[in-house]
Amino acid sequence: MPNIAVDPARCSHCNACVEDCPAQVFACEQKGTAPDVVRAESCIVCGHCVALCTRGAIDHSDFPKGSVQPINKEILPGPESLMELLRARRSARVFRDKPVPRELLEKIVEAARLAPTAHNDQGTHYTVVQDSAELKQMVEMTAAFLGQTAKALRNPTKRALFGLLDPNGLKSAWGMVGSFESVAQAALEGDDKVLRGAPCVLFFHADRAITKPDQSAQLAVQNATLMCETLGLASFYTGFVVAACARGVRFPALSGMPKGHRIYGGMAIGYPKFAFHQWPDRKPAPVEWR
Ligand SMILES: Cc1cc2nc3c(=O)[nH]c(=O)nc-3n(C[C@H](O)[C@H](O)[C@H](O)COP(=O)(O)O)c2cc1C
Repeated sequence: MPNIAVDPARCSHCNACVEDCPAQVFACEQKGTAPDVVRAESCIVCGHCVALCTRGAIDHSDFPKGSVQPINKEILPGPESLMELLRARRSARVFRDKPVPRELLEKIVEAARLAPTAHNDQGTHYTVVQDSAELKQMVEMTAAFLGQTAKALRNPTKRALFGLLDPNGLKSAWGMVGSFESVAQAALEGDDKVLRGAPCVLFFHADRAITKPDQSAQLAVQNATLMCETLGLASFYTGFVVAACARGVRFPALSGMPKGHRIYGGMAIGYPKFAFHQWPDRKPAPVEWR
């Protein structure tokens, strides 16, 4: 449990900590007085109280003085620049044969770790794979997994069983069966349609026992993806590789993952061979306004 205290001499009685705290740690009995700390044991260590307090009146053991940084509002993107970044981002499928420097990968992980997490548990871990032999193994194992999956799907009895267990899963997998076969065949011919020759894969994993590990990891993926774009790098979501992990394929590159962890996201990263100069529009968003 963190140690939290409010210094009444510094408190401006703005009540921001009381109103904003997601865990109701603070309560103010009487207007115009400093709040009391009533539920420190519920604190999720999000840092909102210390980030909101303009007077430095809150002492929080997880956020010692000097550890909470001012926001440089002058360099925040406006709606136009953020929207243009969102439009410009693309999944790249052709990469240059050039390694990604470590300092850029560190920036990408830094962006990922700033994403929101359920209960602020910050439980997403990262594994960066750059070893070419391990990447090659990953491509071969994923392609073999896709080939076996396609073979099982082509078998009417196995397909019917799959449909009974997971009707939606079957519908989606059956629609992809031709793609699975072509990725598997390409790998046999030495053509990588799994990682597309990307020199790096960033994995997102977490203990499956934490709250919403999947959702938290996906938000981290999106942060990382946008950071890639700003660094002149490109990426794509390695859905085939993540699916192989979910179905029990164990890549040696991930043998260092802590026990109980599952892979929840994967991104292939590299320098793009081609630059996009236009952005294709999406379907209009189906929105219901009430
Ligand atoms: C969950 C998920 C899985 C994906 N898996 C793959 C994949 O295995 N291979 C691939 O080339 N692209 C994959 N993609 C990328 C999508 O195909 C891509 O986002 C989509 O076609 C739109 O293109 P854009 O990202 O360039 O806008 C995946 C995307 C998501 C969200």
